[in-house]
Amino acid sequence: MAIERLVEPTSAREDAEEERIEKSLRPLTFDEYIGQTHLKSNLKLAIDAVKKRGKGGVLDHVLLFGPPGLGKTTMAGVIAHELGASLRVTSGPAIERAGDLASILTNLKDGDVLFIDEIHRLKRAVEEILYSAMEDYKLDIVIGKGPAARSMRLDLPKFTVIGATTRTGSLAGPLRDRFGIIHRLEYYKEPEIEQIISRTSKILGTEIRPEALELLASRSRLTPRIANRLFRRVRDYADVNGDGIVDTVVAEKALDLMEIDYLGLDPADRNMLRLMWENYGDRPVGLSTIAALTGDETTTIEDFYEPYLLQMGLITRTPKGRMITEKGKKHLQKS
Ligand code: ADE
Repeated sequence: MAIERLVEPTSAREDAEEERIEKSLRPLTFDEYIGQTHLKSNLKLAIDAVKKRGKGGVLDHVLLFGPPGLGKTTMAGVIAHELGASLRVTSGPAIERAGDLASILTNLKDGDVLFIDEIHRLKRAVEEILYSAMEDYKLDIVIGKGPAARSMRLDLPKFTVIGATTRTGSLAGPLRDRFGIIHRLEYYKEPEIEQIISRTSKILGTEIRPEALELLASRSRLTPRIANRLFRRVRDYADVNGDGIVDTVVAEKALDLMEIDYLGLDPADRNMLRLMWENYGDRPVGLSTIAALTGDETTTIEDFYEPYLLQMGLITRTPKGRMITEKGKKHLQKS
C-alpha cells in the first residue's frame, strides 16, 4: 500500500488556502529570487538584450528542467515580470486536443509568455502544432475532414514559451531543439534555504529563531517548496502549542510529529529504502519492481523519491537498476 507523502503532496491535494499562501510567497523579481545564481545571470542577460533591442524583440523560448519544487513555475513568473509581459499558465496534461492549444495560441498577444508545465506530457498531435508556432509563429490547422479537408496557416503573435519538465529525457528531440535557452535547476544550498525560510517568515509575520531556521533548512531536502511547507506546519505548531514564535523546541516537536528525520526523509522515503534493502540487499532492482513494492507509479518514484535520495547518496542507479548504498543502510539503522 502506498504511504501518503507528508512533504510532497501533489498540487491537486493542496487545498485552496495552502495554494494561496504558496502564491503569496513567490518572488516577482530576480533580486527577490534566492539561489540558482547561474540560471539567473543567463536569463538576466537574455532579457536585457531583448529590452535593449526594443520594439518587436521577443525572448527565445526557455526550457527549465529539474526535480519538482525547485522553483520552475516561480522562475517563469519572474521572467514574465522582468520582461513586463503577461503570463499565461497551462500544462501538458491540461491541453487535451490540438484545438485547445490553437485556442490558447490565437488568444496570445505580442510579447506574452506562455508557461507550459509538465511539457513532456503533451500529446503528440498537440506537440506538432507547437513546433511551427514556436519556430515561425505560425499556426498550421486543418479544417474539415476527408477529401474536403484544407490546411491553413495563420499568423500568431510573437510569444515566448517557457516549458518546465522534470525529465528532459522524455522530451521529443524536435521539441527540445526549439528552445534557445535550456537550463537545469539545481538543488539549493542550505544557507539559501535558510534565506528562503527567513523571507517566508517575514512575509507571514512569524518570528523564527536562528537555530530553528538552521534546523528547518537542514530538513528541507534542499528544496524551497518543502522548506516553505515545513515552515507553515511548524508555524501551526507554534501557534497552537506555544507563543507563536518558532524556536528549536517547537521545530523539533513539529518535525517529529511529521516523522521527518534529520536528512529530511519522510516515512514514504524510508519505506522505499527499507523495501529495497529487505528484498534486494546489495542487488540492483528495477524501477517497476520498486513501484510494485511501494504501490506508487514509476513516474512518482522517478520524479519525487529518487532525485533527492540520489543527491544524498542513499541510493545509486546502475544499468541494471537502483541499489541502496552503505550510507542508505546506515541511515535506516539510525532512524
Ligand atoms: N520561494 C520559493 N522559492 C524561492 C526562491 N528561490 N527565492 C525566494 N523565495 C522563494
